[in-house]
Amino acid sequence: MLEFDPHVLDEKPVPPPEEFSKRAHVRSLDEYRKMYERAERDPEGFWGEQAKLLDWFQAPTKVLEWDSPHAKWFSDGKLNVAHNCLDRHLEKNHNKPALIWEGEDGATLQFTYAELHERVCRFANALLSIGVKPGECVTVYLPMVPELPIAMLACARIGALHSVIFGGFSATALVDRIADSQSKVLITADGGYRRGKIVPLKDTADAALKNCPTIAKSIVVKRTGHDVDWHDGRDRWWHEIEKAASKDCPAEPFDSEHPLYVLYTSGTTGKPKGVLHTSAGYLLQTTWTTRLVFDLRDDDVYWCTADIGWVTGHSYIVYGPLSNGATIVMYEGAPDQPTKDRFWEIVERYKVTIFYSSATAVRAFMSWGMEWIDKHDISSLRLLGTVGEPINPAAWKWYFEAIGKNRCPIVDTWWQTETGAIMISPLPGATPTKPGSATLPLPGIIARVVNMKNEPVPPGETGYLTIQKPWPSMLRTIYGDDERYAREYWQKIPGVYFAGDAAQCDKDGYIWVLGRVDDVIKVAGHRLSSMEIESALVSHPTVAEAAVVARPDEIKGEVIVCFVTLRSGHSPSIELRGLLMEHVSTTIGTIARPADVRFCDILPKTRSGKIMRRLLRELAHKGGISGDTTTLEDMGVIERIAKTQGKEEE
Ligand code: WTA
Repeated sequence: MLEFDPHVLDEKPVPPPEEFSKRAHVRSLDEYRKMYERAERDPEGFWGEQAKLLDWFQAPTKVLEWDSPHAKWFSDGKLNVAHNCLDRHLEKNHNKPALIWEGEDGATLQFTYAELHERVCRFANALLSIGVKPGECVTVYLPMVPELPIAMLACARIGALHSVIFGGFSATALVDRIADSQSKVLITADGGYRRGKIVPLKDTADAALKNCPTIAKSIVVKRTGHDVDWHDGRDRWWHEIEKAASKDCPAEPFDSEHPLYVLYTSGTTGKPKGVLHTSAGYLLQTTWTTRLVFDLRDDDVYWCTADIGWVTGHSYIVYGPLSNGATIVMYEGAPDQPTKDRFWEIVERYKVTIFYSSATAVRAFMSWGMEWIDKHDISSLRLLGTVGEPINPAAWKWYFEAIGKNRCPIVDTWWQTETGAIMISPLPGATPTKPGSATLPLPGIIARVVNMKNEPVPPGETGYLTIQKPWPSMLRTIYGDDERYAREYWQKIPGVYFAGDAAQCDKDGYIWVLGRVDDVIKVAGHRLSSMEIESALVSHPTVAEAAVVARPDEIKGEVIVCFVTLRSGHSPSIELRGLLMEHVSTTIGTIARPADVRFCDILPKTRSGKIMRRLLRELAHKGGISGDTTTLEDMGVIERIAKTQGKEEE
């Protein structure tokens, strides 16, 4: 969790730039407040009205059925998500670019709405031809290539769920997620480009599939063209089955609550959880927030730099923008490839107007310096966004000045895989911003910072962030584990949604999200579980016990520090430290690579045997005793602190 400097709460709000407000969808704080109050008074009336943003095959008469903690939204309505993202735009936007894609190697492709529609229809038929049925789950393990959104929309079109797995995950992570979803089909690629190298996705997938008995077919996109192993009978080239399929694939109506996708995310246990989203409520809230929060207009060129392997890419590269008929930019690779101005080159080339990125990226740009930005004309930008982790006020201000040239409002958007869509954010033409605060909840969202008894905490005190009423894009359950869904989200503070974040609310009602209160670690905005990393460590033959904590980091927000005790017969060494780091990154993925592994005789525990993470966090933070050397931690110190803190923690 971030160190918090309470005086920032008193900072003067930055009003929305006047020129921006004049043309915005929502133009003043007053207008926002009216909308908010209207939604609070009559949530069903409010959401029922917003539902007109979607194209329904059968319009719903019901809005919400709430049998806590289970919600159904618009349950008697019928629609097709892919139809909403593609077909409905064809008449007006047939030739409008839907997707502008750039590979890291410089390859570029553009698809109009008509072309994207055709590709999706063909691939939907290809999936049907290999026997994919509505309600089944298809696992997608791809780099950031156009086939990724095409595969997702093709699944949506035929009512199959997709489970997209971030391309940075390893074979073991893939096996766990495929086993949980019981997918029969995997979609992957020979490879993708990252930092000038090939990421050999098919090799990783092949290793995983040795342990995935459910997978019968694997569809492989040819991206790099390098040689790959081939399993006849199982593997098929994407381009071959797409070519053989018809382009005629009518969009069938599905119920509002038909499942749309599972997305695995890290929680407080070693087992990743499959967050389940369904169709209409999810699509409505992503569509509506894209329009309002990004103040989207017809001629915008919208670029969200997230990877589609995470929820930000699902909601704000694919579903929200396409459902609005927007032009989206998608980039395959790293921001510093080949040089540190790649992003600004892309902004200039495509005249990007809306740029949505992470706080980590902003801090990296800041550290790289103005020379990279000054090389390019980025005056097309009119709105900036950030997501995924708290943004410190200094980075916010830099973003505003250096990238936004004091002209572009910043939307600091708070939300989660589980919330499906943005929940707390400024409306760029209406809400005065305070650097570091996600500001106010959106209309229809009842967010409160409370104590464990669900009582609001006074301004300036830290409490838990909760959502007090159901919202359309909320997760419906954890795939295959409804009990865990109820327990983790709705029973911690009975009856309300527990977000797992610490926050403060200031005297103006502005919300300041401070970070997680559980064992989730956010490394560069990527969500990882300390328990998952601990299980990876103890699977190594030398490790007896492991505890993993976060250490604040200037660029990445947080990094991973591991404390391990070794089995007898093994002793600390630089080699072992390196081996363990490597072991974590091959077991989970390179994103989970620890910044440090430190050796102890014992892990400090409370009398009841709970590992004292607070103490370890403190040690990790302060650089501790051993620093970069590999000697054992000074147990005398640990024990002394443990004695005093152990009592408090029990
Ligand atoms: C954190 C990402 C501060 C938070 C969309 C949350 C943020 C977790 C913000 C969800 C923000 C997200 N300010 N913290 N604007 N946005 N977070 O599921 O801790 O990958 O609980 O979804 O990211 O991460 P997830």
